Amino acid sequence: MNRADAIAEKDIAYNVHPYTNLALHEQQGPLVIDRGEGIYVWDDTGNKYIEGLAGLWCASLGFSEPRLVEAAVKQFERLPFSHSFAHRTTAVTTTLAEKLIEIAPAPMAKAYFVNSGSEAIDTAIKIIWYYNNGLGRPEKKKLISRKRGYHGVTVAAGSLTAIPLMQNDFDLPLDRMISTDTPSFYRCGEEGETEEQFTNRIVDNLEKLILAEGPETIAAFVAEPVMGAGGVVVPPAAYFDKVQPLLKKYDILLLADEVICGFCRTGNWWGSQTYDIQPDIVTCAKQLSAAYLPIGAVMVSQPIYQTLVEQSKKHGAFGTGNTYGGHPVACAVALETLAIYEERDILAHVRDVSTTFMQRLLSLGDHPLVGEARGVGLIGGIEIVQDKATKASYDPTTKAAFKVTQRALAHGLIVRPLPSDSIGICPPLVISHDEVHSLFDKLKAGLDEAMQELK
Ligand SMILES: Cc1ncc(COP(=O)(O)O)c(C=O)c1O
Repeated sequence: MNRADAIAEKDIAYNVHPYTNLALHEQQGPLVIDRGEGIYVWDDTGNKYIEGLAGLWCASLGFSEPRLVEAAVKQFERLPFSHSFAHRTTAVTTTLAEKLIEIAPAPMAKAYFVNSGSEAIDTAIKIIWYYNNGLGRPEKKKLISRKRGYHGVTVAAGSLTAIPLMQNDFDLPLDRMISTDTPSFYRCGEEGETEEQFTNRIVDNLEKLILAEGPETIAAFVAEPVMGAGGVVVPPAAYFDKVQPLLKKYDILLLADEVICGFCRTGNWWGSQTYDIQPDIVTCAKQLSAAYLPIGAVMVSQPIYQTLVEQSKKHGAFGTGNTYGGHPVACAVALETLAIYEERDILAHVRDVSTTFMQRLLSLGDHPLVGEARGVGLIGGIEIVQDKATKASYDPTTKAAFKVTQRALAHGLIVRPLPSDSIGICPPLVISHDEVHSLFDKLKAGLDEAMQELK
């Protein structure tokens, strides 16, 4: 068993998880957030916090963007609802679809709207199965995700979310869903292995898995360009370069889950661009509307779309859809969000401010509690260890990462404990250089205080 699996086993054995401390939550109740402005939120007792995770990796424009409020009000007044079933749609829905296709990370034919990241993944899975049935390959249905990958919580998406807490006792994963290695050189690299050797080994493992299952049974490989909720795992430089030819060799589709990475987070419009990924299907949500309203999307390539059309003719319609998919108000807010990204050149801002972000993040790697500091663009993670030399983690019952985040919270910073005792840092994209310094000053104070408690 490798080190990452051993840690996951331990999490299960102790029935604990770094996200939460149930006893503490029961005693204190939830943190009730009351209002927001810029990158800050206030709780119901008046404490001010930097939202260092942009809510849930989503509030890209902060918490007080009047243009998004105006866009919603205008659309509410014009047409608060109409659906996209049975040859109907709305003007804003089609405009948003066209815009997404225009900026997609690889040539895409169509965009299909849903209300969340999980729904986007579930819909993508249905599309993949429908597509393979259309091609006369009813056995080519299995999906491969990565351990610690996060793709949502619905029955199908939750089956790809290979994190024990999200599957245990929910009777997940469903069959057809299998998982392969986490691309974390720090946590999963073996003694004496170089990053290149590690990458070759896990890509080799992927090929062995494909062959063992039978390539004719594998439909798609599903991956976040940078893993978010699994602990902010930044892939080795050559990882996707080596995975993609393998997928081509066995005729396996690549689904890029851009729910966190999409819309400038990694220093490009898409995480796929940061890692030279050429996906067949893209899912996105969160920063698509700066989180002001729920909306997600699935984009599919022309060959997939064409097969869906042919298959739908057989059945009389493409038999899936959601009442609120392509909701005009959510689409209007998403369109305004994309307009703001372009007009304010948020991408250039991210590239600029990420220099300070990465410098402050990586310098935390020197802290005695931090085994690894890693990130790209404006997403980062630190992994808490008991022993830097051996990379040994604290016993999960210690909840070391949780303790750091509680200390940081007392200093006015919200960040999130994640699997493998990691802490995620993912501020609103509009954060300034000074605010980045303030964020890391607070995180450093949290680390220093937690160290006193832990050592
Ligand atoms: C990469 C990724 N995919 C899918 C999802 C699921 O999105 P939602 O919570 O909107 O269902 C998430 C949520 O964090 C995510 O990070």
